[in-house]
Amino acid sequence: MNILDIIENKRDKKELTKEEIEYFVRGYTEGNILDYQAAALIMAMFINGMSKQETTDFTLAMANSGEILDLSKLDKIIVDKHSTGGVGDKVSLILLPLVASAGVLVAKMSGRGLGFTGGTVDKLESIPGYQTEVDIHNFVKNVENIGISMISQTLNLAPADKKIYALRDSISCVESIPLIASSIMSKKIASGAQKIVLDVTVGSGAFMQNLHDAEKLSREMIEISKLANRETVCVLTNMDEPLGYSVGNSLEVIEAVRFLKGEMIEDVKQVVLELGAYILKLAGIGDDINKNKELLIENIKNGKAYDKFLELIKNQGGDISYIENTEKFSKAKYIEPIYSTQEGYVKAINAKEVGKIVGNLGAGRIRKEDKIDLSVGIVLNKKVGDKIAKNEIIAYIHANEKEKLEIAKEELYKCILIVPTKVDKLQSIIKIID
Ligand code: URA
Repeated sequence: MNILDIIENKRDKKELTKEEIEYFVRGYTEGNILDYQAAALIMAMFINGMSKQETTDFTLAMANSGEILDLSKLDKIIVDKHSTGGVGDKVSLILLPLVASAGVLVAKMSGRGLGFTGGTVDKLESIPGYQTEVDIHNFVKNVENIGISMISQTLNLAPADKKIYALRDSISCVESIPLIASSIMSKKIASGAQKIVLDVTVGSGAFMQNLHDAEKLSREMIEISKLANRETVCVLTNMDEPLGYSVGNSLEVIEAVRFLKGEMIEDVKQVVLELGAYILKLAGIGDDINKNKELLIENIKNGKAYDKFLELIKNQGGDISYIENTEKFSKAKYIEPIYSTQEGYVKAINAKEVGKIVGNLGAGRIRKEDKIDLSVGIVLNKKVGDKIAKNEIIAYIHANEKEKLEIAKEELYKCILIVPTKVDKLQSIIKIID
């Protein structure tokens, strides 16, 4: 067997065997298959699709490319969470300390930005000192000691996905149901949780642009989880406009901190509470979803969730003075208000375009090894359904380069639609699939 035959087979729309998939995953992880060969194969998988069997084999090969974490010594049900990605998606930063404050053990391996979406690891790294690269021993120890750890995929858990994820990002091969399902489920299987809650985003700022595809992705992930003896619930959430107001790494951390201090933005609140209520249910804390939501709100109001966040940041080396005083985060050189040219109601804010603008301001990677700019981004002043007057501020652009700022301004106008007639707010929770 060699990689050229495997690429040829997939290029010619043949179904790959388990052996071929395992050969590729092993060879690429060990460095014997080169980036350009892997890129060709991934592109062929992206274009020609993968059967259910191929997707399952690919998932298991990636999950088995490193260790499978054994969390049984923690002697508690571990519930993991993952999102299929979005724009302004700071949910993990809020939700995980929140459920940890309610007694759920959180052992979370997060990702970096992918395509036009942001990643929790990049966001956490905007907190000076915060260590995302933690070895397995310390990862588990952190969970044992304080009930929560959030790390990047640097340790030996699904290392094949880590490489393929970064490669997909740099060759525009992200929006594929089998590639997303296998990427997410390989990580979840490797990180040891028996129960999983998935935030499957739908809309312009998601990889699944319509409900049909989001349902298909959800069902594929649930099927894989059953084969791996895991229980999974998918919460389908709206990503037609950016989530919350802020898009950009440190800007989103600041919004998350404010939320944990009680400033609960409505759409973020709906998503956090729904996912959180299912996490508590799967963890065996309570079967009643509404009661679970009440418990979570209580833990925001009494400060327990915020305290848990501080504990997490401190425990992983982060400087909590930035959390206690978010003014300390370094600001972009230009913070430019954008004014509405007409009065009316906000009908649409194209989340994908906003994500791309923020990426082009410096928050996204073109090459795998690119350093990103943690301070740039967009802070909206209005959401879909809001009334707006002529010359009222619709958003602020945070930029470090004048030229990029000018391009961002032009692009931002194009992705916000204002109409004269009243517009309804978007519904945050679309449906639950389990
Ligand atoms: N999140 C992942 O971990 N992988 C994907 O492919 C998409 C979102």
